Amino acid sequence: MGGRREAEGVQLVLLGPPGAGKGTQAEMLSQFYGIPQISTGNILRAAVQAGSELGRQAQKYMNAGQLVPDEVIIGVVQERLGKPDCAAGFLLDGFPRTVPQAEALDRVLAEMERPLTAAVEVAVDPEEVVERLSLRRTCPQCAAVYHLKNKPPRQPGVCDACGAALVQREDDREEVIRKRLEVYAQQTAPLVDYYAGKKLLLKVDGGQEIGAVQAEIRRKLEAVVNKA
Ligand code: AP5
Repeated sequence: MGGRREAEGVQLVLLGPPGAGKGTQAEMLSQFYGIPQISTGNILRAAVQAGSELGRQAQKYMNAGQLVPDEVIIGVVQERLGKPDCAAGFLLDGFPRTVPQAEALDRVLAEMERPLTAAVEVAVDPEEVVERLSLRRTCPQCAAVYHLKNKPPRQPGVCDACGAALVQREDDREEVIRKRLEVYAQQTAPLVDYYAGKKLLLKVDGGQEIGAVQAEIRRKLEAVVNKA
């Protein structure tokens, strides 16, 4: 899906269960609006790979399908939002994940005088994500996301974008996926009401094919972005 939309000051949050397609849609939206995709999952995986203190703290939670503590992740996001590439807007993928994270984000954005444009909920049937995630492959180098059936790489096992060997994520084993779904239902799903209450929620059907989900998101965002 081509084209690029210059839209200054678009601040987005993507919500949805594991495997809903947040990362896939975020990558496309980030290119379309010319704003950085800030994926807390990618930041944490890069930290684990680098063996940093953050990675050391996060790894045990991630491998068990649990959330890393709020105080750890909030600081990471606050620092990232201060970087110059966020001046024209940003897209948060995988943050906030709890009500305290959402409240912290509100405080940070109020300080920056950059109100949220919308929170996009990518809704899917939990059973569907188990299949999606077991067939997902990711690039450990550039974080590109593939699916063996729905979005295969051109050459099996090799990243189209950077040529690195694709891997299966540690937390994409069925028992961990089920734990992540449980954690989503308990800790993250309340954010749907949180953003609906603030009149910022846009719900899209994540069960459609990838291009159709993107088209629905852009259509729904168009009205809001034009108003901003
Ligand atoms: P994170 O990396 O954020 O994982 P997640 O939220 O579980 O989401 P996923 O990356 O699994 O799925 P996605 O929705 O991005 O789907 P994708 O586009 O890849 O977090 C990992 C861990 O880090 C957490 O468990 C936690 O420990 C920690 N963490 C991260 N943020 C945190 C925070 N804020 N607080 C605390 N802890 C945090 O798509 C999935 C697959 O389906 C792909 O193969 C894709 O090709 C395919 N696909 C996508 N869309 C479609 C479609 N429409 N139809 C068919 N297939 C599709």
